[in-house]
Amino acid sequence: VFHSHLDERVRPCIDLIDSLRLIGIEKDLPLPTIAVVGDQSSGKSSVLEALSGVALPRGSGIVTRCPLELKLRKVKGQIHWRAVIAYKDNVIEFCDPSLIEGKVKAAQNELAGKGVGICNELISLEIMSPEVCDLTLIDLPGIARVPVKGQPNDIGDQIKKLILSFIEKNETINLVVVPCNVDIATTEALKMAQEVDPEGRRTLAILTKPDLVDKGTEKNILNIVHNQVVPLSKGYIIVKCRGQKQIDDKISLTDAMRLERQFFEQHDYFRSLLHEEKATTQCLSKKLTQELLDHIKKSLPLLSEQITKQLWDVRKDLTECETGPPLDPHGRKIFLIETLTRFNDKIDRLASGEVVTEENL
Ligand code: GDP
Ligand code: NA
Ligand code: MG
Repeated sequence: VFHSHLDERVRPCIDLIDSLRLIGIEKDLPLPTIAVVGDQSSGKSSVLEALSGVALPRGSGIVTRCPLELKLRKVKGQIHWRAVIAYKDNVIEFCDPSLIEGKVKAAQNELAGKGVGICNELISLEIMSPEVCDLTLIDLPGIARVPVKGQPNDIGDQIKKLILSFIEKNETINLVVVPCNVDIATTEALKMAQEVDPEGRRTLAILTKPDLVDKGTEKNILNIVHNQVVPLSKGYIIVKCRGQKQIDDKISLTDAMRLERQFFEQHDYFRSLLHEEKATTQCLSKKLTQELLDHIKKSLPLLSEQITKQLWDVRKDLTECETGPPLDPHGRKIFLIETLTRFNDKIDRLASGEVVTEENL
């Protein structure tokens, strides 16, 4: 989905971030990622799935139990789809997209135990394919209001802490996922996002499950999308993802997108949102691409500042080392000869059986 919107305007920035990643800069300088937050079963994994084209574990109850970092890498020239899942000491490579769900579930079972527990440890899933675009998405466990059997009493706080550690980062774009059939004003995730990003510069709200909206509340939903209830500077987008029945019926993501558009086109109240560019995953993807672009543009001066500082530190370290070779060609030649002579001398002494220590070298 994203792919189709990566026009020439976006490409250079994404390429730049790619090259920075390639030289390993990510270890020192964090780059923009997209994280989803929301209540349990609000549709977070479904939204990420629709955006990435990667089928993730979804369903009712707590399904996402560890943070999952989904790194999509466009590999030019490569024909085959390839993935690497890494967690704890495991690094497993596989070549079949239909194995993703099983691998992620197995990883969660190993990290968080079988059942309903959660774990802070990250599962990293890297997908390399010519079909995807270069993006990092983070799927997070949902906020549980009431612990279920087998969960500790403070599960809600544990999850909130975990979520906070991701959404507080300045370089993260936060997608707050809220289903149409709950009261948005009491949505904890929205409050959390507003706390870490009071000006709403990197928060975008996504309304899900428009097909399950309570009859008679459609106008309220329209007001929310029109930013009249809980105003956010980046606003709202409403999407319809695959419901449980569509998943059970094995409706493909492509078909689901077609059905999504049809749903909005035929909806008495929500139809107007299509023209306002506030509905469908396609529209979300477009908006997100733009956000990502703006975000990268804004991060670049900071990146540049950090690189300059690191360069300065390295230069300082260097001057504390020996003065290296002089700059003029003649001086360089002499420097080289002297170094080689010294080296040769050491070899001679070693060869003659002299006991050579660090000192007399
Ligand atoms: P998460 O817990 O927030 O990650 O939520 P999931 O993505 O696992 O979704 C929870 C359930 O809601 C799944 O059964 C999805 O199929 C279903 N779901 C997600 N989005 C929609 C939607 O737009 N409409 C309907 N009817 N169901 C949806
Ligand atoms: Na769920
Ligand atoms: Mg989930």
